[in-house]
Amino acid sequence: MIGKIGLAPMAGVTNWSFRKLCFEFGAEFAYTEMISAESVIRNLKINEYYFPKPAEKDKVAIQIFGSDPFVMAKAASMLENMGAWIDINAGCPVKKVVKKGAGSALLKDLNRLKDIIEQVKSAVSCKVSVKVRVGFEKDEFEKIYDTVVDAGADMIAVHGRTAKQMYSGKATWNIKNKGYIPLYINGDIHSLSDARRAMEISKADGVLIARASIGKPWIFNDKTPSLSEIKKIILYHIDLLYSEIGERAAQEFRKFVAGYTKNLPNSRQFRAKVMKINDVETLKKAFEEYLTSISF
Ligand SMILES: Cc1cc2nc3c(=O)[nH]c(=O)nc-3n(C[C@H](O)[C@H](O)[C@H](O)COP(=O)(O)O)c2cc1C
Repeated sequence: MIGKIGLAPMAGVTNWSFRKLCFEFGAEFAYTEMISAESVIRNLKINEYYFPKPAEKDKVAIQIFGSDPFVMAKAASMLENMGAWIDINAGCPVKKVVKKGAGSALLKDLNRLKDIIEQVKSAVSCKVSVKVRVGFEKDEFEKIYDTVVDAGADMIAVHGRTAKQMYSGKATWNIKNKGYIPLYINGDIHSLSDARRAMEISKADGVLIARASIGKPWIFNDKTPSLSEIKKIILYHIDLLYSEIGERAAQEFRKFVAGYTKNLPNSRQFRAKVMKINDVETLKKAFEEYLTSISF
């Protein structure tokens, strides 16, 4: 659809600043964090934060979640001009979402999933994709795939675990791609060689990478940066986040600290210190000092 390697949606992570960073390292497309369709039709102001910014609009899909076909279709029609296409979340295993019949709960109710896709499709003129897991309790990917294709979706992305598995076990890349629409494989891809293997095994058209990009946004290309380059990347990431959310960036950046400092010397002590910092200047200084102290 739009390239072979994309940044998968992650609530609380794939905001504008993180997407921008990943694009600069070679991600070809990305998604917003998941947005409640219900909140969209109620015009909640908070949602503006989640919408793609104009400069990235052509490569960022807007992901919505919900269980009511009418609400999903209405939300999709309100959002379609703000992003590259609309993505339907049919994979989220989080209790709060599943309890309401949304996310991966749709994998237990394929008639509803079909209805949602059909209604969203007829409400918009942009493309519509669906992100699924291989099943709810057990692997039923073939049935899910057929439903998504029959309903008229333009693309499917699959995380190779069931919803019940959450994040346990290993994601399977061994799925059946019948090839009617572009398929993206996702789950446990930690490098470009993993990406190639996942595509070979699944015969997918591309991959989505989520967790491995946290603290390693350069995963989208084959060049591992040096320590001094990593220092620049971290400081740049903090600056981007600051320009997005202001001083709250110091706390928000904590999500990335473990990823960026994994396997570095004395990282435990550094992390303990950095997790208490509440302002951006002190945070940047701490990283500068730490990364300079460990480079020889
Ligand atoms: C913190 C976090 C937030 C996530 N939020 C979303 C989301 O909003 N929508 C979605 O479809 N998947 C979401 N996911 C799932 C990822 O997109 C992806 O399918 C999953 O993490 C497996 O890929 P990975 O092994 O590359 O991490 C989230 C995952 C994580 C770790």
